Amino acid sequence: MARVLVYYAHPGDRFSHVNAALFQAARDVDGIATLDLYRAYPRFNIDIDAEQQRLRDHDVIVFQHPLFWYSTPALIKEWIDLVLEHGFAYGTGGEALHGKSLLQVLSAAGPEDAYSPEGYQHFELRRFLTPMEQTARLCGMRYLAPYPLYGALQARDDGRLNPHLAGYRTVLEALRDDRLDLDAATHAEILSADALPLTPRL
Ligand SMILES: Cc1cc2nc3c(=O)[nH]c(=O)nc-3n(C[C@H](O)[C@H](O)[C@H](O)COP(=O)(O)O)c2cc1C
Repeated sequence: MARVLVYYAHPGDRFSHVNAALFQAARDVDGIATLDLYRAYPRFNIDIDAEQQRLRDHDVIVFQHPLFWYSTPALIKEWIDLVLEHGFAYGTGGEALHGKSLLQVLSAAGPEDAYSPEGYQHFELRRFLTPMEQTARLCGMRYLAPYPLYGALQARDDGRLNPHLAGYRTVLEALRDDRLDLDAATHAEILSADALPLTPRL
């Protein structure tokens, strides 16, 4: 069993179309730890020691958030800046995160075809996520392909939200049970609910 931790960050959670439901789905999975970052730190006064201990205590770190200006909500950036200290996460003696995995679960208003060189967002989604990917790498972590929900504001009406929620639960259970094929998940462009790289049950 892997110890999975979901960090959820949404400053406007009350108005959420999809992330609140996704976070509830995560909380419903047995054996998964969760933290609502904006609830824990509404004034950004992050407890660095507590967060570093939380990281030591888990094998898989999930950041679940809406895409804000092609990046994360600000509290995740603040968390990264403060918690991933030299000597803890990187640099001399900074090996606390080595061998752990990092997964981004995110939603975007833009439709999938907008995230391409021909689309209005001009770049593939993965291009916008390279700072997080390299942050994970520098810290000796495995960066798994993200699990995105495009066109998030239409997802419920289009009937895409429920399969996406079910896929999220499956991803978390598979991570917990060491059933996600980590090599395949590392080399994939994105993870999607209908093609999750699962290993057979033993
Ligand atoms: C400040 C802000 C910035 C946003 N930036 C982006 C963006 O860069 N790309 C995008 O596709 N959607 C962007 N959006 C839309 C959100 O990603 C979208 O509303 C969210 O994923 C929907 O999730 P929710 O219903 O849980 O809030 C932005 C929304 C806000 C409020």
